[in-house]
Amino acid sequence: MTRVLITGSARGIGFELCRQYAEAGDRVYATCRSPAKATRLNAIAAASQGRLTVHAMEVGNSTSVKTCRAEIGDTPIDVLINNAGVWGGLDTQVFANMDYDNWAHELNVMAMGPFRVIQTFMPNVLAGRQKKIVTISSQTGAHAYDHVIGYSYASAKAAVNRLMTGLATEFREQGVIIVPMHPGWVKTEMAGDVADISPEESATGVRKTIAAMTFADTGTFMKWTGDVHPW
Ligand SMILES: NC(=O)c1ccc[n+]([C@@H]2O[C@H](COP(=O)([O-])OP(=O)(O)OC[C@H]3O[C@@H](n4cnc5c(N)ncnc54)[C@H](OP(=O)(O)O)[C@@H]3O)[C@@H](O)[C@H]2O)c1
Repeated sequence: MTRVLITGSARGIGFELCRQYAEAGDRVYATCRSPAKATRLNAIAAASQGRLTVHAMEVGNSTSVKTCRAEIGDTPIDVLINNAGVWGGLDTQVFANMDYDNWAHELNVMAMGPFRVIQTFMPNVLAGRQKKIVTISSQTGAHAYDHVIGYSYASAKAAVNRLMTGLATEFREQGVIIVPMHPGWVKTEMAGDVADISPEESATGVRKTIAAMTFADTGTFMKWTGDVHPW
């Protein structure tokens, strides 16, 4: 049994990861901004005999992250998945029109968010058996992605990739495996139906890749397929 903590769990890739881990018999700490509204997660929790519990966590707010840590306590976490993310829309993050408040928000949620979650839950990860931390990033954060980008989103993902490689170096001696991962282009509320793959396919690939990850992978930008992402 793997003990997994996931952020942004109420919908999209995060929900599907929770669903699949719970179905596989793992212990899931599903965190989301509004547990009272997380109807689908709460239904899984109710039928899970305690294997999945739902906890409030707003990753953009240090107090909320610390409150969640206090609720979960010292319990060991084998796999920590930073999944929560936001996309403020392309119109307000292009060269011709930049919403700087949205940029700050995206950086706070997707770059500082994973950092503060890792900082807060590192004792749990160090107590875990697998010591794996995966941060769901994006191909748009890679220099190799030669397309027009939404600057706020892409810079937040580039920043989080660099934060993860930095943390991978810092925690190498403690045996922690830290990997930023592109989950595919996924049909969720964020990407819409034009995307390539379903949340089920993405989560299946992410879980398989996490299960196969070894210490040799720490600090590598990976894809949900298990391949290395060019960066
Ligand atoms: N879909 C894609 O094609 C794609 C591609 C590359 C990377 N990604 C990344 O994959 C991850 C999951 O995205 P998705 O496609 O599943 O998008 P989604 O359906 O829009 O889900 C995003 C999730 O993040 C949560 N969230 C947003 N802000 C948060 C905050 N401040 N604190 C805690 N949770 C927060 C949302 O919670 P609420 O339910 O409360 O709003 C929601 O559960 C994101 O990091 C995204 O950047 C997605």
